[in-house]
Amino acid sequence: MYLTYEEQSLLAGESGPSAQKAMRILETLGRIYGAAHMIPVNSVQISGVSYDNLGEAGLAWLTEMADGGGKAQVLTTLNPAGMDINNYQSLGIPEDFAANQRRVLDAFEAMGVVTTCSCTPYLFGNLPVYGEHIAWAESSAVCYANSVIGARTNREGGPSALAAALTGRTPAYGYHLNENRRPTLSIDVKSEPQNNPDFGALGKVIGDRIQSQKGYRVPWINGIETASLENLKSLCASIATYGGVALFHLPGITPEAELYEPPSESIAIYRTDLDQAIQSLNNADSEEVDFVSLGCPHLSLREIQRIAVLLEGKQVTKEFWITTSRLVKGIADRMGYSAIIEAAGAKFATDTCCVVAPIKGRFRAMATDSAKACYYASAKNGFQTRLMRFDDVVREAIK
Ligand code: F3S
Repeated sequence: MYLTYEEQSLLAGESGPSAQKAMRILETLGRIYGAAHMIPVNSVQISGVSYDNLGEAGLAWLTEMADGGGKAQVLTTLNPAGMDINNYQSLGIPEDFAANQRRVLDAFEAMGVVTTCSCTPYLFGNLPVYGEHIAWAESSAVCYANSVIGARTNREGGPSALAAALTGRTPAYGYHLNENRRPTLSIDVKSEPQNNPDFGALGKVIGDRIQSQKGYRVPWINGIETASLENLKSLCASIATYGGVALFHLPGITPEAELYEPPSESIAIYRTDLDQAIQSLNNADSEEVDFVSLGCPHLSLREIQRIAVLLEGKQVTKEFWITTSRLVKGIADRMGYSAIIEAAGAKFATDTCCVVAPIKGRFRAMATDSAKACYYASAKNGFQTRLMRFDDVVREAIK
């Protein structure tokens, strides 16, 4: 792989041990994937932030990188942590966990990483432009950046994203290259999805069916005329979770679709397929639900505004987490939406989410509008799930 003089100097340790380690990671990845050279990146999103996932080994590595003088060279934001940084007690997060999570955030801050703690960086300032090369981790955000924005990123892991941040580079392979962005399978959607659970179900059905495709899986999804930002983030989260998809094209909606002809191999998806997928994620009765969560991926301002409308003057009867970024919450505070929501007894779980917070086994069944959240609620936390429309999730909380 060709390395510039500057890249060779990073590799030789001339900018310190952390930059050297970072360059070694990128060079190794580049060699494994056959990259011809590195590409500069201007935007990084790092995952692997919750102490629940990192543990002491992960924290030790981050501390070593911070102590070795690692500094982010480009705008670098952070995925959700395992707790609301200011309000963790009301979410039942233990003090020892909070202290360890704080050490993780301190290490990132020492490296100049902006501790946004959100999986929707594109909603508040880390917004790449069409065609821009970036290095993002967090599968839902990667899929959104590639598909909806038309930026170019591989599905980075925490270490490779941090390495890109500390060097401002990533190896040129995968979704950075034109040839891997071509659609590989046509999907004919015969019944247009109407809401977040439908889009999540569509992601699950496509994801389940595309699993067997080798190499880069890039569905060309035909038959959808309209999709909101919120619908698209639901689809991205689900299709990435169930199918490992990092890029899709939606003709008429996503910007690169017009560059390609639809692939000849195609599969059809009918309303019954979506209904079956939703049904498969509904394995709890309403009476069993003792936890309600909205915000996977993190909520937009429009969604928080809607929750405020639905909760005004009401009282919740179950633990209800509203997960979003601190930046979006700040605007909700200023507009009075947060006061309405909190007066109803719902809790903002800012900086975190129902998947990365340490709540395994704490609840029996969770209601949500997110197919991705259902997957992890069951697989990681051992909850049963109900996948419902957004408004119905709020109604479930006040039932
Ligand atoms: Fe975001 Fe947590 Fe869902 S990181 S996409 S809210 S699992």
